[in-house]
Amino acid sequence: MNNDLEMRHLTDHTLVVTGASSGIGAAAARRFRQLGATVAVVGRSPGRTAAVAAEIGADPHLVDFSRLDDVRRLADELLARYPRIDVLANNAGGLFFSRKTTPDGHEMTFQVNYLAPFLLTNLLLDRLAEAPQGARVINTVSAFYRKGRLDLDDLDRTRGRYSTMQAYYSAKLATVIFTLELSRRMHGSNVVASAFHPGIVASDIYRDKAIIRILAASPLGKIMQSTPEQGAEPLLYLATTPDPATVDGAFFHRSSRAELENAQAGDPDLAARLYQRSAELAGLLSASRE
Ligand SMILES: NC(=O)c1ccc[n+]([C@@H]2O[C@H](COP(=O)([O-])OP(=O)(O)OC[C@H]3O[C@@H](n4cnc5c(N)ncnc54)[C@H](OP(=O)(O)O)[C@@H]3O)[C@@H](O)[C@H]2O)c1
Repeated sequence: MNNDLEMRHLTDHTLVVTGASSGIGAAAARRFRQLGATVAVVGRSPGRTAAVAAEIGADPHLVDFSRLDDVRRLADELLARYPRIDVLANNAGGLFFSRKTTPDGHEMTFQVNYLAPFLLTNLLLDRLAEAPQGARVINTVSAFYRKGRLDLDDLDRTRGRYSTMQAYYSAKLATVIFTLELSRRMHGSNVVASAFHPGIVASDIYRDKAIIRILAASPLGKIMQSTPEQGAEPLLYLATTPDPATVDGAFFHRSSRAELENAQAGDPDLAARLYQRSAELAGLLSASRE
């Protein structure tokens, strides 16, 4: 893509990037700033978030997705700070190598990778819909959504043997389904939604598992992984491609648009029910927040 076009495209734009304190999100935030955008650098670690924000001349915003109240506080902070939001990049996520429960009572992988971004998106949706040139919600998922399996009656995975990887695959599947449902719901509005798999990327994603972290950092491990900058390329493309309609409801596997390969991902009835259930779990259907 021509950099001059990108530069024109992002000047005056505001992009909110979650998980911007590390890896793919930090690489994307740097690039968006180079392209002239105002970037909200959202991270969990105060030190890492402040460092990325200071490096690129942007504002840091802290949040812990394991606490839904903190997501609501972040949304209020972003709405107060940015009169215009053009892009919401829901990129924060992670793997947890044992079953953990959040203070909200949800399985950690499900909440951090899916439910918290679902809530943040909904809380920012009205502001996104006002973006003068249209807005984009871009979700970082994983190709492993293919192996995910959702049970709407057990989204917190309390039944059967707990599997870290199955929890991760299914949280990413939920995010793919959410992306498509959001695209359908916002049809005819200013807001489009897309999702992408960044590739296998050398980042801090294995921070909770020393052995995988060591293997990933080995010379062979590095050869097999992309850089965070390469992982961020689909996000750059989805955020800057001139006609947003061309990427509405799209799933990108790295740089290419791909067909979905999980029957649940293409089920609009399941998507509508997941949206409703998620809104209940996130407290979006309870009394309005005054
Ligand atoms: N790396 C890969 O091979 C790969 C492959 C497919 C998909 N992905 C997806 O790519 C996205 C970015 O991951 P990455 O590879 O760049 O990993 P990373 O370097 O570990 O970055 C993860 C980001 O998510 C943030 N985060 C984690 N838990 C959080 C929480 N509870 N609340 C708020 N923020 C939280 C981290 O914040 P702090 O650093 O401030 O704690 C960090 O900024 C994730 O959604 C991941 O699932 C990665």
